Amino acid sequence: MSIIEKALNKAREEGQKLDKFADSHIESEKSNDSYSNHLNQSKATLNPGLSSNNELPPEKEVAEINWSHLAELGFLAPCDSNTQTIEEYRNIKRPIVNNAFGKGSIGINRANLILVTSSLPGEGKTFTAINLALSIANERDRQVLLIDADVARPSVSRVLGIKSGPGLVDYLDGQEISFSDVILSTNMPGFRVVPAGKLHKHSTELLSSNKMALLAEELSTRYSDRMIIFDSPPLLAATQGDILAKLVGQVVLVVEAERTMQSMVMESVEKLASCDVVLAVFNKANRTSDTDYYRYGYGYGQYAH
Ligand SMILES: Nc1ncnc2c1ncn2[C@@H]1O[C@H](COP(=O)(O)OP(=O)(O)OP(=O)(O)O)[C@@H](O)[C@H]1O
Ligand SMILES: [Mg+2]
Repeated sequence: MSIIEKALNKAREEGQKLDKFADSHIESEKSNDSYSNHLNQSKATLNPGLSSNNELPPEKEVAEINWSHLAELGFLAPCDSNTQTIEEYRNIKRPIVNNAFGKGSIGINRANLILVTSSLPGEGKTFTAINLALSIANERDRQVLLIDADVARPSVSRVLGIKSGPGLVDYLDGQEISFSDVILSTNMPGFRVVPAGKLHKHSTELLSSNKMALLAEELSTRYSDRMIIFDSPPLLAATQGDILAKLVGQVVLVVEAERTMQSMVMESVEKLASCDVVLAVFNKANRTSDTDYYRYGYGYGQYAH
């Protein structure tokens, strides 16, 4: 049995044990969220654009996401009635939410910061990041901020059909622009997006900058009750993925079924050695039965380092 398979079995057992707790926790949190208080900016904050209280910034404009188009592409849109997809992402998010806000969070630093990555391009990082974010926001479990940190090859804005800037790069590169300026509210309550922003020849340096580290710290402390999901570049094709992995508490490693070699997965896992939690999602797995054809499946691996 491979390490991934062992991890899958272990995580399934853990997931079953945690189900009850996670569900009751989510339920109890629903009533506690509010975006009604606006920014009380403080010059003393590490990042002047972030609020000094625990609220995300005020809504300025609402990005309209075309849900039916998203559903046609196989994404988890609110209008989607694909109960299998809904159920799969419910299962994917459960341990992540529990690690971030439930009993599982004990001992995990920055547990509300989630990086979605993979070994190679095209394995389904953006697909997974968006669906995970929508799944969490759609059921009104949590407020979710999806950040497109694949700054060299961004695609979150394109897929969602919303504007692509200003975004993370503009915030990291600029002096005048605050983080609140790059957060887009959407037509799904609780779901906000930070686009990647402009292409920048020093994007790697920007992601490894002190300003990015401070931003991650702020997001984990001031927004500890929010889920922050980063879409990232592939680990084995770019260095930005490694850099980002050091900033978050949980990593979702997307593995494309029947394509990504085990040696590549293990190489990626080694690169993630400093992360408290690494969960594997098997994507695009074909599962056939006499009557059904499923486009993808998933699984989990959780590694304690
Ligand atoms: N489970 C899935 N079901 C259906 N389509 C999928 C699934 N996963 C990924 N796709 C599709 O496969 C393509 C590649 O996925 P995606 O863009 O999410 O990969 P990526 O890892 O983010 O790629 P890149 O490294 O280029 O950023 C997209 O067209 C996406 O919609
Ligand atoms: Mg992508």
